[in-house]
Formats: sequence, structure tokens, C-alpha cells
Amino acid sequence: MSIAETDAQIINPNMPDVPPTAPSKINLKDYKKTSFDVETVNLDIKLFEEYAQVNSTLEMLRQTEGDLVLFGEELELLTIQMNGHQLDKEDYQQEAGTLTIANAPDEVTLDIQVRICPQTNTALEGLYMAGSGDDTMFVTQCEPEGFRKITFYPDRPDVLAIFTTRLEADKRYATLLANGNLVEAGDVVDEPNRHYAIWHDPTNKPSYLFACVVADLDVLTDSYTTSEGREVTLELYAKSADIDKCDVGMQALKDAMEWDEVNYGRAYDLDRYMIVAVSQFNMGAMENKGLNIFNTACVLSSPETTTDARSFSVKAIIAHEYFHNWTGNRITCRDWFQLCLKEGFTVYRDQSFSADQQSSAVQRIDDVATLRAHQFSEDAGPLAHPVRPESFVEINNFYTTTVYEKGAEIVRMIANTLGLDDFRKGTDEYFRRYDGQAVTVEDFLSALSITDNKIENFIDWYRQPGTPVVSGHQSYDSTAQTLTITLSQQTRHVSGFDAPKPLPIPVATALFDKNSGGIVAERMLLLDQATQTFVFENITSEPVVSLLRDFSAPVQLNYDYQDEDLAFLLKYETNGFNRWQVTQMLVNRILLQGQSSKSSPDIYLQALSQALPVLASDDAMLAARLLDIPSAQELASAIQKDYDPELVKMQRESLYQQVADTFKDQWSELYKQLPIDAYEDSAEARGKRALRNVILDMALTADVNDAAEWAEQQYNHASCMTERFGALKAMVNHQVANADNYLQDFYQRFQADDLVIDLWFSVQASANNVSVDVIESLLMHEDFDWNTPNRVRSVVGAFSAQPTVLWTQDGLDMYTGVIKKLDDANPVLASRLLQVLARWNTLVEPRRQMAHDSLLDLQKNVTSKHVMESLDSVLNA
Ligand code: ARG
Ligand code: ZN
Repeated sequence: MSIAETDAQIINPNMPDVPPTAPSKINLKDYKKTSFDVETVNLDIKLFEEYAQVNSTLEMLRQTEGDLVLFGEELELLTIQMNGHQLDKEDYQQEAGTLTIANAPDEVTLDIQVRICPQTNTALEGLYMAGSGDDTMFVTQCEPEGFRKITFYPDRPDVLAIFTTRLEADKRYATLLANGNLVEAGDVVDEPNRHYAIWHDPTNKPSYLFACVVADLDVLTDSYTTSEGREVTLELYAKSADIDKCDVGMQALKDAMEWDEVNYGRAYDLDRYMIVAVSQFNMGAMENKGLNIFNTACVLSSPETTTDARSFSVKAIIAHEYFHNWTGNRITCRDWFQLCLKEGFTVYRDQSFSADQQSSAVQRIDDVATLRAHQFSEDAGPLAHPVRPESFVEINNFYTTTVYEKGAEIVRMIANTLGLDDFRKGTDEYFRRYDGQAVTVEDFLSALSITDNKIENFIDWYRQPGTPVVSGHQSYDSTAQTLTITLSQQTRHVSGFDAPKPLPIPVATALFDKNSGGIVAERMLLLDQATQTFVFENITSEPVVSLLRDFSAPVQLNYDYQDEDLAFLLKYETNGFNRWQVTQMLVNRILLQGQSSKSSPDIYLQALSQALPVLASDDAMLAARLLDIPSAQELASAIQKDYDPELVKMQRESLYQQVADTFKDQWSELYKQLPIDAYEDSAEARGKRALRNVILDMALTADVNDAAEWAEQQYNHASCMTERFGALKAMVNHQVANADNYLQDFYQRFQADDLVIDLWFSVQASANNVSVDVIESLLMHEDFDWNTPNRVRSVVGAFSAQPTVLWTQDGLDMYTGVIKKLDDANPVLASRLLQVLARWNTLVEPRRQMAHDSLLDLQKNVTSKHVMESLDSVLNA
């Protein structure tokens, strides 16, 4: 940002002088309706060089007894009028974050004038300036509580109103956008350099869905006709240099619109749908009504600059934000405790959409791998919280994998329990009953229960933190020809919550005949007690049992398997997901040796050698995934005590080395079967590229002759970023002789493209042999920018996935130094980075003590409620 801090003081000389109070805890059980509802909002936002003036008119109606309460933060209040009369300081009460008017009449018109300073807003919440120098733009992020940084307002999701927005700015900002439909635009009288636009949004919406953009952007335009016959104009806005990277996103938008019509009967409801790409954004994207705002990393895509994985996630995020139009916007959350109501359901919807765009097995593998790596570790540590939390200090801290991904798993279990037809009946009922309202998880479950199937006991999944562990064993009775499976569940007692109770856990089960490999019985077992037995009749010989197929519940499975059973299942399981799951179980048993079992890698390697060649030609993407070794983070999540990052790293690497060596003679052959073809964006082509990169890395690991040369060839002849970056990454990780030259070449080729330079930073920050010195020099690089979260994450985020270096004195000093630095400027980002340190308490000494000291020291040096809340929880481990 170009404006120095001193300017902020000049512009805001008299920020409200209110005493700071300790941030208080907000509790779900204290929910109360507001005393006043807002009918209409008229906003007039005038942007000037150094500040913005915001005038608002709110028409409000009393709905219950009580004071009229508005929220406001970082606002300079100029005037406030009620029903035409100027209010004086005695007429209202201003405390940290609120403005209260007692004894207001039942019908109120408020006219409020404030000044704000988007130019110095580095927190990226409310209205802020992105970019620097001549290349700036103004955008908003209001979810969850950013609107109160734009004007005084009852900024809560259960207050729905009709918004009209007038924007005014210098004409060099040619693009003036807000929610809804454009009603008027033109020049400002007597000010030849300024223009304005007026937008009106006909839908009732909460303030967190408000958005506006003041910028100078190009636009890609398209259209879509809905199943209801509405012609919708689709617009994707980006900087002119990026406008050629918008086609993938535009196509995804059209695909998502159609998908929601076909699968949920939901059509779009306005005449215009806009998406704006912004380079400085805290999260992925935001579903503002009719005006989505996206992190550039989550919307721009081109084969030359974007890896397949990234491009695929662009499509998923476009779909996610689009799906929010019904699950989130038309039906919204009563309060922020219900965040999972919109996020869990919408993630489930975007996962289902993505599963239709590639092999559904691979989709499930990716979703489960993410869940296990991130959500399971969150649930295992001091930041564990229910999918619907019961209290918070700062709601931004609860945009977590638990709310999103575990929330999606609950919806998936419900959908599978009901069956897809009844689930659809239930969602139809949900939309019918609650359209236009702000509702709760209970409302959602009650609508889904309209068919005979009752799923209301799934509410406990929303209330109880911790990952259930399902253990079990089987016994076969050859005389009675019955197989009895005994399953039991156990969830750790997370402090501060009630003692855990049994949850309804659907366990998809199949019995495989040991001789033929065929399935002899298939059933969905519902484990809803602490321990239960399930009997299968007419089973003529002892079968191998496959459990939790398709990961039918978000639990840890601990079944009494022999390694041979797992090898058998790897061979005979019928779908790709289940085969992957079996390899993961085998790998976990090998890697977590000493913990429980004594598995040797032989059976795993043997099973792989049968599966791999077949798969490599059948389903390359699945073959690539079968070679996955769980991340250090996922493995660590299963360790409660004396976690030694060096040991885990060594074990992972040694297993990886064994796999690489076992197939040493085959890599060359397999690699050559996957020549570089002209770029194509199909599931098959993506699979081949993924497998080629895995094989390249394996070959380098096994020291195959010429492998370094393959890498250079692949880099030089790449048809797309997946190939080029895959080669670069392999060269850097294996410290191939020319690696530095290629790093330099990569930098020069893509210097002008921020998102590719993010890759350049991240490949170095996540290199196998990274050191704190390397990270520090990246932080000093002229292209490093503390005000761009993508850039910070490309270095600091990448580094945080390196436990062996992170958990050292130097690593911790550096990392907590970054958090201190960001604490004030961007507390949302700072708090997220901090959450990575949550599991310090499981470390082996002396690392544990070192980490504890660093965290205590950090506590003395931070002030944001975001970081303080996270730190309190983390230190409470
Ligand atoms: N609702 C957005 C999404 O999931 C996320 C916005 C979160 N923003 C934040 N500052 N916490 O699509
Ligand atoms: Zn979302």
C-alpha cells in the first residue's frame, strides 16, 4: 500500500475516542432477535484520493422491545439524524464497536454520515484498496462482520434489507459495481473528472452479502438462459493483463448454473451475475449477491500459467460461490454459529459438482485426504470445536476445516442415509419452507426429515467436537454360517464440552469371498451405540470385510485387519476410492510402527506391484494417487505424545525410497508411456500429467540414470504449467545440478505474473532441504509483499508444512515474528498462520518446551482479538 501510516492519522484525526474493553465471548445460547429490522438501505459511497465518505439512509421498523443498536468499527462519525432531527452526543451512546439509541420510536429513518479510509485498510475487511502505485482498486469483503467498517449498521446475518447503492469516484476508475441491477450512471454535475453509478438489488439480503467495486478493469461477457427462461448476463472482471485467463472460470460458471438446475432444481434469480478478480484477498472467494469477489488465485486460469490442480480448484470455487446463491444467500444463517448451515452444505454441493467433472473416486480421494490431513488434526488438538460452535470471541477464527469440510461430511452422511431421492425431496422442502429467511441447523434437519426417514439425531454431529474412533473385529461361525461384526465407537472428551455420546455413524460394508474375490454381501451398518454387533447370515466361508467404503463417515477406523486382508482388498475392492483407502491403511500401519502394529512394507510393495502397471494404463490419476504417502501433518495428527518431526520425516522418506527402489527398473518404461502431448483439459490428460510428475519424482529418488535429463526435457518442452512446474519442483527437491538455472529461467519467464511468481516462491519455501535462512532471504526479496496474502502464504504458508524446520528455535522465531508483524496489519491472516502451531503440546522435548516459550513470548506481543483468542486456545492444550 502506498499511503504511509501518518496519512491515516491526518485523515482520521478524531477517530471515536472510546476506551478499549476486553473482547467478550459471544454465546449461541444468548441469541436474541434485534429490536429493529431494516427495510431499506440507501448507501452513497464517494471515493476520494485519501478517504471515502459514506452516507447511508436506513428505514427501520421496531420488531421487539429494546434499544436500537448499530455496530460500527473504524468509522469517523460526522453526523447522525433520526427522523429528520440531528442527534447530539447525549442522544446516543457510543462504546467500542456499538452505537446505541435508547427510546427510539417504532418507525425510524436514520441518516448517517461517516468517513472511512480504505487506502490504509490493510486488514482487507470492509472497503479496502488493493494494489499499489497507479494500479489500485477498491473492493469490499463484508463476511462476516466487515460491513460495520463501512457504516453504522445492525450488521448481523438475520437482518435482511433491500439495498440501493450509489458509487462515485474519479473517472480513472471506470468500473463501478455493486449488487443487483444497474439503474443509472453518468457524470457528476460540475465535476468533469468524476462519475457515478446507482445499483439496486431487489433481493432482501444481510449486510455480509453487500459488495462494491471501484476499479479499472476489463470484462469478459457471456450469457446463460436459465431453465426458467431468464436471460442472465455473465461478466467476469479482471485486470486487462489477466482477461485472457478468464475462460475456464466462465465455463465453470455456466456448468455450475446448469448443474444446480438439474440436481437441485435451483435457477438463478437476477439478470446479472458478476465476478471480480482481486489480487489482495484474505480467503478464496466471496458469494456477495450477484457480485462475487474472488482472489485472483481462485478464478484466473490458463494452461501456460496454472497447474491442473489449481485450475480444477478454480472450477470448484466458482461453483461453490455460485451454489451459495441458494444455500447461503436466498436462505441464510440466523447467526454466525450456524455458519456450517451454508458452508457445509455448499461444500457438499461443490464436491458433488466436481465429482461429475472427473472420476468420482479421485474426487473422493482428494476430499478425504484433505479432511484427514487438516480437519482430523484440528479435531485432535486444542482448536477442536463443534461443527456448530457454541461460543466465540472472533468469528473469523471459525472459518475452519471443521465447519467447512466436516460440515460437508455430515451433509453427505445424511444424504446417503436418506438415499438420494429422499434427500432431494428434503432439500426441495428446505428451499420451499425457508426461502428468504435466516435459519438454523435445526431448521435444515427438520426440512430434510419430511420423508419417513428421520435424521434429526444427526444434530449431535454438529454439537460434539472430536473425531470418533471406530474399532471392531469379526468372528465367523462356520456351523451357523454367520459372520458377526462387532463395532464400537469412542470420541475423546474435549475439555469444555459435555462428555461425548455415541453418534449415528453409517458404516458402508461389503464382504468379499476369499477365494473368488467377489462380493457376497453388502450393507450400510448404522452404528449408533457405544458398541454393537451386526450379524450376516448364510455366509459360507470366512470373508474379508471392507468397511467404511467411500469413507461413509468422518471417523478413524481401527479394525482388526491382517496386512494380508488389506493386500487382498487392494486387489479386489471394486472402486478406486476403496483401493486407495486400503493402501493408506497399509501405509499408516507401516509408518506408525511402534505405535501399534508391526507391519512390514513387503506386503504393501507387493500389492502395489500388482496394481500399479494395470492402473497406469487404465486410470492414470488413480495410479498417481495410489503412490500417495500421507503428509507429515496427517501422520502427526495421529500422534498424541513425543511427536518427533525428524523421525516421522525419516520414516516417510525411507518408505518413499523403498517404493522408488522397488520399481526402479520400471520407471523409465512407465515414464515413456506418457509422452508430452498437445495440451488438453480432460480428466484423462490431467491424469497422465499427474502420473508423469509422480513417476519423474520417483525416478529421481531411485537415482535412475537420465532422470535428471527427463526433468530438463520436460521443463523445456512443457505444453503447460503442470508439466513445467512438476519438472521444476522435482529438480529443486532433488537438488539436480541445474536446478538453480531453471529456477532463474522460471522467474524470468513469468516475472510479470503474480500467481506464477507465487509458485516460484512456494517451490523454494517447500523444498526438501529448506532452511530458515532461505525463508528469510525470500522474505527480503524485492517481489515479496506483506500486503498480499497470496504472497505471504506462498512463503510462510509453504514453510509451515515443514515441521522439521518449523519446530526449531530459529524456525519458531521466524514464524512467530511473522505473526507479530501481521497481528495489527492483517489479524485474520495472522490468526490463520498461528493455528498451524496448535499441536505444539504433542512434540518431543526439547522442542515442546521451545515451542511453549515461543508462544508465551508471542502472547506478550500481540493485541488483535483474532490472534489472542487463537493463542489462548492453543496455549490451553
Ligand atoms: N463465504 C466465503 C466462502 O466460503 C468465505 C468468506 C470468508 N471470509 C472471511 N474473511 N472469513 O465462500
Ligand atoms: Zn462458502
